[in-house]
Parts: sequence; structure tokens; C-alpha cells
Amino acid sequence: MEFLAQPGGAVNGTVRVPGDKSISHRSIMFGAIADGTTTVEGFLEGEDALSTLKAFQAMGVEIEGPDAGRVTIHGVGRDGLQAPAGELYMGNSGTSMRLLAGLLAGQPFDVTMTGDVSLSKRPMERVAAPLREMGAVVETAEGGRPPLTLRGGQQLKAIDYVLPMASAQVKSCVLLAGMYAEGETRTTEPAPTRDHSERMLKGFGYPVTVNGATATLSGGHRLKAVHIDVPADISSAAFFMVAASIAPGADLTLQHVGINPTRIGIINILREMGGDITLSNEREVGGEPVADIRVRYAPLKGIDIPEEQVPLAIDEFPVLFIAAACAEGRTVLRGAEELRVKESDRIQVMADGLVSLGVNAQATPDGIIIDGGPIGGGRVNSHHDHRIAMSFSVAALRASDTIHIEDCDNVATSFPNFVELATQVGMRIEVSK
Ligand code: S3P
Repeated sequence: MEFLAQPGGAVNGTVRVPGDKSISHRSIMFGAIADGTTTVEGFLEGEDALSTLKAFQAMGVEIEGPDAGRVTIHGVGRDGLQAPAGELYMGNSGTSMRLLAGLLAGQPFDVTMTGDVSLSKRPMERVAAPLREMGAVVETAEGGRPPLTLRGGQQLKAIDYVLPMASAQVKSCVLLAGMYAEGETRTTEPAPTRDHSERMLKGFGYPVTVNGATATLSGGHRLKAVHIDVPADISSAAFFMVAASIAPGADLTLQHVGINPTRIGIINILREMGGDITLSNEREVGGEPVADIRVRYAPLKGIDIPEEQVPLAIDEFPVLFIAAACAEGRTVLRGAEELRVKESDRIQVMADGLVSLGVNAQATPDGIIIDGGPIGGGRVNSHHDHRIAMSFSVAALRASDTIHIEDCDNVATSFPNFVELATQVGMRIEVSK
């Protein structure tokens, strides 16, 4: 599928973007191994979250929905999962593969997880290494890539794991394995990353303590079913936040957006660039802070992005690079090498796309340098990466000609109704093929 993003357009109105991807994944995982029936609303009906849902169905968990964001999970209890009949296909979803590796490492059965071309290139050694330290038997393909096989029937033991990189997936993987391990498992992270696992485990009644950068839990406790209201995904809202910031005259409100402090780098960075963003109706929903976010057009300026914001905006950089291209002056990002191992190499792919639209952008080993200036039309390839495809769609608001964006199918992994909502607010995206 290709998008033809037409130049110009408006960004006005009020929209609610789909449910948070990270929270949707975890609602299925924890609901599946809880005692009792978990109900979810606001669930992301995107392919990634559905990969997790199907994996648990394949392991014998009865799950109804999703139907208009509602899902009912009949929990089988902590030891109730059954061996799947075949391999578990995780599609494009790194979160599914890495978190399930932890959850399944201590099960009595073997599991093999596979993925699509993008996921098959992504590093899994970062989860295999700590799991092996815990006594799991983990096999990967060459270079630590998928498929990932876990040999069941191992008694795991707790570890004290100091993460070599800021990764919520690795942290969560180790903590989930820790639920099935003997003793107290601890993770210590080099910088704060999303803490949805810790929050939601507590919501399910599983004792977790968090002390600064260290999260601790011990094995053997049970989870109790709950109701989960999934907030709108700030990572999806981010496309509209940048769209409204760069489109003259824009005034947009995004409803019920999750504003967990580990996720708000997009707000902090856009504000530092001069963005006009106001939060209202701040409240807490099921242990997660939520707000309505109003964004109005404002001229942006280039900045040196503070490094401590990197993990807090890790999924938002592709679209932040579009903001930088529209800003006055130079934007410099450093300390973001993790972007090179996302659904695509987001530093190189964005630099290549920006350059082909006439923007002065230069990739560096751990970041990028972008000089704001005019954006032309042209052809860009999103390399199977949903966030690259949506970012260049946003760029068209300020482009002088059509931007052809190739390889857009994967937008459905996180934001299935992106084109519909973008059109509703006044953007001009045509879908072809
Ligand atoms: C996620 C963690 C992040 C993020 C991904 C979702 C999660 O990955 O990029 O989209 O749900 O835990 P890393 O842990 O690899 O940074």
C-alpha cells in the first residue's frame, strides 16, 4: 500500500486516537494468567496487539473481542497456559516477542516465536542473555535474531539485572520471568523507561516495589482479574501533535491521552521547540494518568534535544524529525542509537527520506542533525515501519508537492484508522494500491 500525501491541508477539531499499544499488550498478557475474568475497554485493535491476543488464544486462553475496543479475557491462572500447537507468529511486534519470552521462559512447554521481515532482523540477544542467566534455555537464529525458541521445564532463579540499555521491553521481560522464578528478581535501568508493566502488575494485585531505577518482585504470587480502561496512545497522538504544531492556523484537541511521565518526551521536546500545548481535564484512569491535549500552531525553533528526554520520546523521533525540518534553525539529537534497532533503522530511514524531500539532514551514529527549511515533494520508502509512513504523511502539511510514501501496510500495526482521522482533521492523504 502507498500513501499519496498531498501538500497543504489543515489540522482542526477534536479526535480520540486508538488505545495505547504498550498497555493493550500487557492487558492481554496479565489478564491471561490472572485468576478470573479481565475486561478491557479502549483496546488497540491494531495488528501488534492482536498478535499478542492470538498468541494467548493459541495457548488455550479464551478471549472474546475485540469489539469496538472491548475485550474479555477468561484468565487461566498463573500455571494454566497450554502448549501451543505450532509456532507463535508475532508479525511486526517486538513487544510481543520480547515480553512473551520472559513470560514463557518458565513454562513447562517449549515455544518458538517467529516474526515478519522487520521483526526477523531485530536483536533478541538482549532478552536471551538475562533469561539464560535465570536458567532459561533460549535459542535464537544467527546473530541473536528471531526465531526465538524457549525450552520449557526449567526452574528459573531470580537475578539482579542491571540493564545495559534503556529498554522497557528488556526490563519487562526480566520482571515477567521473575514471576516464575525462585527468589527476588531486580532490574535496574540506566534511565527511566515506560513503567506500564510495574503499574499494571500492581493493579492485578502482584506485589512489585519500585525504588528509583530499581524494580523488584518475587516469584510465586498470583494475579487477580481487573477492569482496564486503556488510554489513547500518546505515541499515536504524537503525529497529530506535530501536525497541529506545523500547520498554520491549526487548533486540535486530542482526547483521553495517556500522559504517563515516562512517555511525555514528545510534549517536553515540542514545548522546548516553541510548541503551543495545553493539558486539561487531567485525571487518573486505572493507575495511568490521562489528559486532553490541545495543540495550536506555533512557529518552532531548532534545539539540542536534551539526552534525558530520549527514552521518554523513543517512539516519537520520526515525527519529531518532521517538526525539526519545519523549525527555524538546527536540531541536534544525540544518545539515540536505540533508534537504529526499531521496526526500521529510524535514523537512516528518516535521514534518507528527508534528504529526498530536499531537507538538509545528516545521520550520525547515535542521532541526527536537521536544518529546518523548505520541504519539497518526492518519493520516500517507509521500510515496513508504521511510524515512518505516518511521519512523512504529516510532513506533507508543509511540503510544496505530493509526497509518495511506499510500503504503508504496517500503519495498521499501531494505528489502523490513521488515514481516516487525518482526513477528518483536514489532512490530505490518498491511499493507493
Ligand atoms: C515498548 C518499549 C519500547 C518501545 C516499544 C514499546 C514496550 O521498546 O519502543 O514501541 O511496550 O515496552 P524498547 O524497550 O526496545 O525501547
